[in-house]
Amino acid sequence: MIINTNNFNANCISNNSINSIGIFDSGLGGINVLSKLKKEFPNINYYYFADNKNSPYGKKTDKEIFDFSIKIIYYLIEMNVDIIIVACNTASSCLNKFKHKINIKIPIIGIIYFGIKEFLELSKENEKCAVICTPLTQKNNSYNNCLNLEFGINENKFIHISCSEFINYIEKGIFYDERLIKLTQFYFKDIKNNSNIKYIIYGCTHYPLINKNCTEVIYNKFNRYDIKFIDPSNYLLKILKRYISKSNNIGISKFYYSKIDNNFIENVNTILNEKINITYVNLK
Ligand code: DGL
Repeated sequence: MIINTNNFNANCISNNSINSIGIFDSGLGGINVLSKLKKEFPNINYYYFADNKNSPYGKKTDKEIFDFSIKIIYYLIEMNVDIIIVACNTASSCLNKFKHKINIKIPIIGIIYFGIKEFLELSKENEKCAVICTPLTQKNNSYNNCLNLEFGINENKFIHISCSEFINYIEKGIFYDERLIKLTQFYFKDIKNNSNIKYIIYGCTHYPLINKNCTEVIYNKFNRYDIKFIDPSNYLLKILKRYISKSNNIGISKFYYSKIDNNFIENVNTILNEKINITYVNLK
């Protein structure tokens, strides 16, 4: 096995041609990333694993998330994928933390890298960025650590804000309502008067699903028209474009989950706007 020393950033993709992608998350967040990928690259085969049995990842420990992720990665490798996208910030930062324990021959790409890349391209010196994220991503100071590790910048440009209860709404398929607006106002209160914050990164792949709710609070309630939202999956797509050749083929998509749940399937169907077949997998 080749030790992939460049794991988790875009550099490790080079020289690989991509025909099939493995992708995983605890649940619906990664589905949102997948939906963008499918629109942009319909010719690719996708293998999606939702670890809904262990959701929410954000309230677990590093070690637990690392162990879940490794099992999923090996499961996806069995599908002969060319690359694995960790469409989960929480898992990306835990994998990064235990990077030295991983010895895998295909590129594994964590989503955090791409949010930082876009922020660095857009921002001016001294501008700060709020990262709305899970409790574990906050605890790990994930974006500042990745900034240091992958970009060699030893500065705290990112202010992590844990929005732990968002996940309960999102996994129920509630993407916009009055209660959510109230909760968002509460979570975003420190952003309101911090004029150094000019960007907000969706530091949890679930949160772009409640984009309407987040923008309403920042723009309409707080009048912070100077703030721009960053969804890391957009930069991911931009980078992948370099490695994926277009063709008229239509790829297949296969779905797996770790807990049988009809509501989950309904929500996936809504996000992807198609009816999926999903296979239950008990990862030992
Ligand atoms: N979507 C995941 C993330 O980006 C985690 C959500 C959760 O299960 O807590 O961090």
